[in-house]
Amino acid sequence: MRTLITNGRIVTAEGSYEADVLVEGETIAQIGRALADSGVNADETIDARGRYVIPGAIDVHTHMELPFGGTFAKDTFESGTRAAAFGGTTTIVDFAVQSRGKSLREGLDAWHAKAEGNAVADYGFHMIMSDVNDNTLKEMDQLVAEGVPDFKLFTAYPGVFYSDDGAIFRAMQRTRDNGGLIMMHAENGLAIDVVAADEVAAGHTDPYYHGVARYPIFEGEATNRVIRLAEAAGVPVYIVHLSARDALDEVRAARDRGAMAFAETCPQYLFLSLDDMKHGFEGAKFVCSPPLRPADHQADLWRGLVKDDLQLVATDHCPFDFEGQKDLGRGDFRKVPNGLPGVEDRVDLLHDGGVIGGRISRERWVEIIATAPARLFGMYPRKGAVAVGSDADLVIYDPNRKRTISARTHHMDVDYSCYEGRQVQGAAEAVLSRGSVIVRNGAFTGRKGHGQFIKRGTADFARLG
Ligand code: URP
Ligand code: ZN
Ligand code: ZN
Repeated sequence: MRTLITNGRIVTAEGSYEADVLVEGETIAQIGRALADSGVNADETIDARGRYVIPGAIDVHTHMELPFGGTFAKDTFESGTRAAAFGGTTTIVDFAVQSRGKSLREGLDAWHAKAEGNAVADYGFHMIMSDVNDNTLKEMDQLVAEGVPDFKLFTAYPGVFYSDDGAIFRAMQRTRDNGGLIMMHAENGLAIDVVAADEVAAGHTDPYYHGVARYPIFEGEATNRVIRLAEAAGVPVYIVHLSARDALDEVRAARDRGAMAFAETCPQYLFLSLDDMKHGFEGAKFVCSPPLRPADHQADLWRGLVKDDLQLVATDHCPFDFEGQKDLGRGDFRKVPNGLPGVEDRVDLLHDGGVIGGRISRERWVEIIATAPARLFGMYPRKGAVAVGSDADLVIYDPNRKRTISARTHHMDVDYSCYEGRQVQGAAEAVLSRGSVIVRNGAFTGRKGHGQFIKRGTADFARLG
């Protein structure tokens, strides 16, 4: 199958220019001006005049079917990758979970079983490590060899995913030898639990107090601590879902002194704020960790993206229905399952708020949604590029189309939207995954099982020397 995309403006992290793109099978075969005039023929031609042609976006932080707080994140690999595709995201990297007392292998096998034959677009895995011990440390080497080279550890959620400093340091030491990357959820969970208990004892049980109890300084402290541990181990570290100025200051200071510190933020921290958590139990719709911050943190995060102290934006997509799931926490905010839906909206929110909002260039937009994720997570240039030989994961993007985000029209399997009623400019018109058109003009044209596991390389890009 040959598909010719004509007259589009190719936008990459490096620059933009007008050219045609020939897709042959699953890869990009040729890029050039007026390819049709020079005798190139194709089975199908897509006219992209007035549109951008960008690499399929990559979301390196999703939680399909994550067990949390006595329930499971609702999107499956089928519904979640389908929703992602509608929003222009053609690859996700999801977090497989090692449950306490079980092996990494069991956790990874369980995630392969959830995804295989179900995903409509490509996927990879990181591994959540709940237990660091001699056996799991050994298993890390095997996972790196299998293309699962990143390990998420937590300074939050005591009793669930929490690891102490010694465990974190041991895992970091291991990645010095096996080339893996430690990803950190950096909040001081032990201190947070003290404040949260005090709030509940004072009768402050609404979801808003979830946001209040998780002080920004607790995120700053933990971020500094894990970066210092990584420096001591001589390895890079990647901070997930950075939400607060306090944490960004630590990442910036670390980078300024030459540390291999990297970080992502998420749309919810750029577009939503602690004020959204008010309104009684409605605030449960916005319960995630780290929590939404006072609105004045947002400008710092945007500046972090401009200056590359934040390398990319991922969603931390982790959807729970308001009815039947979030309401497990009525009467005690500590029991609200943590997580927000978002995999479908990231590309458009960042185009609208970033490019149309005049905060970042369209090239930086492509970099933070596709190219930087591919580079940091061992997929470049197979993914994240519009280049000959790369996978034909391509989005024909209309930068002028306006749409209103709503749970009534989104494709994520969740009964509310955090962005209900927000108008955004920019939308994916056609989406190709390895050469197949999987979304066109708002209709799904893909197939369950088309998505393949992406065996990823190690994070050489994140290492000095
Ligand atoms: O609230 C969140 N972020 N839920 C998902 C689990 C995690 O910590 O990433
Ligand atoms: Zn986390
Ligand atoms: Zn997460």
